[in-house]
Amino acid sequence: MLPSAGLLLTSLLSAGFLPRETSTWRWTLPAGVSAPPIPADNPMTTVKIELGRRLFYDADLSANGTMSCATCHEQKHAFADGNRTHPGVTDESGRRNVPGLANVAWFTPLNFADPAATTLETQAATPVFGAHPVEMGMAGREAEIGKRLGRDSCYQTMFARAFPENSGRIDFPNVARALASFERTLISYGNAWDRQQLAPNAQAGSALFARDCAACHSGANFTDLSMHRLGPADPALPDQGLFEKTGIDADRGKFRTPSLRNVALTGPWWHDGSARTLDEAVAKHGLTHDAAEAKQLIAFLTALSDTEFTQRQSLAMPEEACGKRL
Ligand code: HEC
Ligand code: HEC
Repeated sequence: MLPSAGLLLTSLLSAGFLPRETSTWRWTLPAGVSAPPIPADNPMTTVKIELGRRLFYDADLSANGTMSCATCHEQKHAFADGNRTHPGVTDESGRRNVPGLANVAWFTPLNFADPAATTLETQAATPVFGAHPVEMGMAGREAEIGKRLGRDSCYQTMFARAFPENSGRIDFPNVARALASFERTLISYGNAWDRQQLAPNAQAGSALFARDCAACHSGANFTDLSMHRLGPADPALPDQGLFEKTGIDADRGKFRTPSLRNVALTGPWWHDGSARTLDEAVAKHGLTHDAAEAKQLIAFLTALSDTEFTQRQSLAMPEEACGKRL
């Protein structure tokens, strides 16, 4: 039996015979790092990534047009922001510290304590529509996003090229898909540790790190992606972490181990931004190190910064779209 035209097209597409403008993205990864999982309904294409990049920097995704993803996730801070917490569009103060976004393509679950945020596509709804806290403030105004973006003829073109499967529909699910595709290109594997160029002090720190830290800060991204409580549970604290999602007493105060890539650039630290220095961030774990050891650990953590990542042009605010300056 002959395959239908649609099936034939689908199999040609999946075999890599893609029209030039939806050409697939090629992963450039160091040896030993495999490509991250990609949802079947959101393949990586260069046009979609370009659209996601523009959207990431577009304040039209917020209620009053003042706040984009990049307002809180700044490239120079490895996509964190340097503040303890960051207020949303209504000035309601943030609850949690803004994490960096290096290598988020490999992370699940996302966020500090949210087992349901399993994909970047799902996560994107939190800042845009979330109410606790309000960040971009678009709760109840989902349709307006499509309307706003649809007024721009360049967005019409970009959505059409990125989403031929649904005629370039301009709506939040497609916005989230494009954002997620761009976020999967926030790839950072170029620090001194990756290049095996640690200075002696940092080298000594890496041995201490392997002994005392790598049980939780494990693997290529220095996180086991699991939730831990580092001190005694305290029901009086304003942020109960995982407990807020599960209601299970044993989950009080549990947070996902943060990645330590670029950690020297993402401070202040901890879920509430309460650690003002890296020293404090380490000391708060309650592990004991003498002054020399603490210094070596900090030297190691500082060596995890990837300056190429914070300057990579393809991740910066785009200067143009559809051949016109933005
Ligand atoms: C007002 C500041 C703010 C804005 C705007 C914002 N974020 Fe965030 N982002 C945060 C905070 C705070 C967290 C941690 C939330 C938590 O753990 O509960 C976070 C977490 C994340 C994470 C999870 C990272 C990880 O390691 O698990 C991703 C991905 C992310 N944001 C993407 C985005 C995208 C995409 C946008 C735009 C649609 C955006 N953010 C807008 C503050 C912000
Ligand atoms: C039992 C698991 C565990 C061990 C062991 C551990 N950590 Fe952590 N680490 C965490 C968790 C969980 C957090 C998040 C705490 C929070 O935000 O409440 C964290 C946070 C951090 C932070 C702050 C990161 C940020 O972006 O805010 C740094 C830095 C850090 N750890 C370094 C270390 C070092 C260095 C060691 C070894 C001396 C170590 N950790 C040992 C689980 C662990």
